[in-house]
Amino acid sequence: IKEKFKKLEEQTREAMKGGGEERIEKQHKAGRLTARERIDLLLDPNSFVEVDRFMTHRNQNFKMPKFFGDGVVTGYGKIDGRLIYVFAQDFTVYGGTLSRANADKVVKIMQMALKMGAPVIGLNDSGGARIQEGVESLAGYADIFHLNVRGSGVIPQISAVLGPCAGGAVYSPALTDFILMTQKSSYMFVTGPDVIKTVTHEEVTKEDLGGAMTHNSKSGVAHLMAEDDEKAMMMLRELMSFLPSNNMEDPPIKPCTDDVHREDESLQELVPDDPNKPYDIKDIITKVVDDHNFFEIMPHYAQNIVVGFARMGGRPVGIVANQPAHLAGVLDIESSMKGARFVRFCDSFNIPLITFEDVPGFLPGTDQEFGGIIKHGAKLLYAFSEATVPKITIITRKAYGGAYDVMSSKHLGADVNLAYPTAEIAVMGPEGAVNIIYRKENLNEEERKQKVQEYKEKFASPYRAAELGYIDEIIYPKQTRSKIIEALEMTQNKTEAMPPKKHGNIPL
Ligand code: COA
Repeated sequence: IKEKFKKLEEQTREAMKGGGEERIEKQHKAGRLTARERIDLLLDPNSFVEVDRFMTHRNQNFKMPKFFGDGVVTGYGKIDGRLIYVFAQDFTVYGGTLSRANADKVVKIMQMALKMGAPVIGLNDSGGARIQEGVESLAGYADIFHLNVRGSGVIPQISAVLGPCAGGAVYSPALTDFILMTQKSSYMFVTGPDVIKTVTHEEVTKEDLGGAMTHNSKSGVAHLMAEDDEKAMMMLRELMSFLPSNNMEDPPIKPCTDDVHREDESLQELVPDDPNKPYDIKDIITKVVDDHNFFEIMPHYAQNIVVGFARMGGRPVGIVANQPAHLAGVLDIESSMKGARFVRFCDSFNIPLITFEDVPGFLPGTDQEFGGIIKHGAKLLYAFSEATVPKITIITRKAYGGAYDVMSSKHLGADVNLAYPTAEIAVMGPEGAVNIIYRKENLNEEERKQKVQEYKEKFASPYRAAELGYIDEIIYPKQTRSKIIEALEMTQNKTEAMPPKKHGNIPL
């Protein structure tokens, strides 16, 4: 029997070596950790249980040597004591490429995660389809895509891209809820610089084409960026702390040591009187959330809208906020898409939505119209309208035009709509309104000013909306935190049934 134990010991030791010392050293030299090192950092200590450690490829061609694990380490473990499934591509074995066996391991983990109702985190670092396996490798990808889609909205699926991720391989991360990329060591593209040069004669580096900053700021493909693997794993742990394990669960409540009645005098004058003066909406957010801790998603993309997670009274919330400090907080194609996807994620996973509104309207221009702002703006409208989680809206200043409707207005089913006394709820700003209303009367400057003042008093305030019940309460800014927490407590057992349907048809 000792011999049998010895064999297990030897095989385990062999499996731990992945593609061997030399390749591990190469990985480290490139500033990347190995699959196992990443898993160790990601999960609670000693919680990882590996599955299929001894699986090898089944390819009969090309006389390829076999390595235990076949280029991916899979299993389950815990983050903050909660079950998580994980697969980590092992670049030291055939460049972490996807073979049939390798795909089977990932599929098995995903199926288990769906059955048990727990999130899947994929750590991607791979040369793509294993060329020697042909269509079997492509079939493996498609099996994974299919499960990504099946699991969408059922269990959180998170991807970290920590090395190459090219060709068809990009579509599994793309189907997941969030993509995190590491700076300098990761890249994602459908076709690489060489193919692009041949086809379109464009010259572009890998980094410029598909590096972390490109996807975090230009394409909007990625949601988070970390300096290195270690920081990436810490970021993933923090992200998971806001999420429930599945769509039937509420997000995890943490004991709250930050006073729920905390008032902040500095909020009273944070919103400038002058409607044309910018301010940073993140100052309001960080002043009102628990421990001033705001976990921003997509901080480098479409900065005119701010989205992210925080806790209020210990409860996770999703925050969506117009950002007056960037393009005056206007809604455009990119910010609408960014907001819509975030709202839908929160709604899928029972995370209440807090909306801070200061929006001058939609961005005018042929770029926007030709680019389809009508259908993209409709996405945000659709997402807020469809969401049945508790919805709480605070209008801090401007709520103009169609954008007033879009930003989680009472009319789209928001549960609690609050406004600061500085709120201006109107079809457009007073200057523009007066120019149109009195366009046929030749007003002199004095008269025009008077009309602007009259308009401001009559329409550019929260009082008309409050008279009509579109605003539930006008609050002092310093009360923001306690008012939101009150509203969250009031709405915590909210139920709202949707008419039966297969699925909606969000304008894409
Ligand atoms: N299929 C099979 N093996 C692959 C592979 C693939 N698609 N991509 C990489 N590998 C192997 C390499 O042969 C090498 O094996 P070795 O360790 O036994 O020498 C190992 O993975 C590491 O690759 P290497 O090229 O040395 O690493 P690199 O960091 O210099 O480059 C890539 C990484 C991904 C840029 C490069 O390997 C590449 O371009 N691969 C092909 C990508 C591709 O076309 N994929 C198919 C389309 S989805």
